[in-house]
Amino acid sequence: MFSYRHAFHAGNHADVLKHTVLIATLQYLTEKDAALTVLDTHAGAGLYRLDGDYASTSAEAADGIARLVAPGTPALQPALQAYVDMVRAFNQGAATRVYPGSPFIMQRLLRDHDKLKLFELHPTDLRALAGNVAQLEAGRQVAVLHEDGFEGLKKFLPPPARRALVLCDPSYEMKNDYGKVLDMAADSLKRFATGTYAFWYPIIPRPEAHDLPRRLKTLATKAGKSWLHATLTVKSSKMGETASGEAKRPGLPASGMFLINPPFTLKAALKDALPQMAELLAQDRNATHTLESGG
Ligand SMILES: C[S@@+](CC[C@H](N)C(=O)[O-])C[C@H]1O[C@@H](n2cnc3c(N)ncnc32)[C@H](O)[C@@H]1O
Repeated sequence: MFSYRHAFHAGNHADVLKHTVLIATLQYLTEKDAALTVLDTHAGAGLYRLDGDYASTSAEAADGIARLVAPGTPALQPALQAYVDMVRAFNQGAATRVYPGSPFIMQRLLRDHDKLKLFELHPTDLRALAGNVAQLEAGRQVAVLHEDGFEGLKKFLPPPARRALVLCDPSYEMKNDYGKVLDMAADSLKRFATGTYAFWYPIIPRPEAHDLPRRLKTLATKAGKSWLHATLTVKSSKMGETASGEAKRPGLPASGMFLINPPFTLKAALKDALPQMAELLAQDRNATHTLESGG
């Protein structure tokens, strides 16, 4: 079984990128009245306590969401402000104690006639997710599925109203997750070519991670679909040193979001938000961003 627990990472720089893109995308997709199906193939626990044992173990949120809500933060670009507003909506008062994962961000943006399907395999996260979702009293709008998201997605495509957003956010703990993402993207485009697909991936020194966006780009281009690729780097990927001179792992230095059939408004929104994200979340002089699109 996997050892990855998203609670250790909730609210870190990768979540800032992923959830900012998710919110901007869903805001656009919910502008039209027609019903939308939203599918989260790797849902996690749904809600995280930033003052709980897990998050404070790594305190990754301190270099993520916490920097954006700190007193004295400059005026934020609209997409980043929408993200901060979303996180604030789950908290009372000034302190940020609760962090919403993708399922809760999605649910908050849906209308009554939209549907949300959440896949989670890990028993602990599944229990937490099911408990958190039950408190929403959202009835049949939200389904929690104890299934492999890569496989389970298939039965929901195409969705009844022919409008869908799929977020695919694996932990990439296992090397074959990269291949599964590509297979899922190819299969999903065959089943439902007009869906919006959003893939998160880590930018780490590993060939599979490097190849993934390149291969997604090729896939989208061959299928004649538009795509958008955004990355955020907060620090160097080189090994660091502790005060006593021992080698220190750098932690995740960067990540990317790759979208197929993105909203046409997304690039402009990120063009403003990404440089500010890189500036505010920088951990060293290597902080930067990229944004490209095609199709
Ligand atoms: C990066 S976390 C998800 C975070 C979440 N999407 C968010 O943004 O708040 C990945 C989750 O996928 C779960 N998982 C791993 N493999 C899976 C699979 N094949 N199908 C469904 N869930 C899986 C892990 O247990 C973990 O909770």
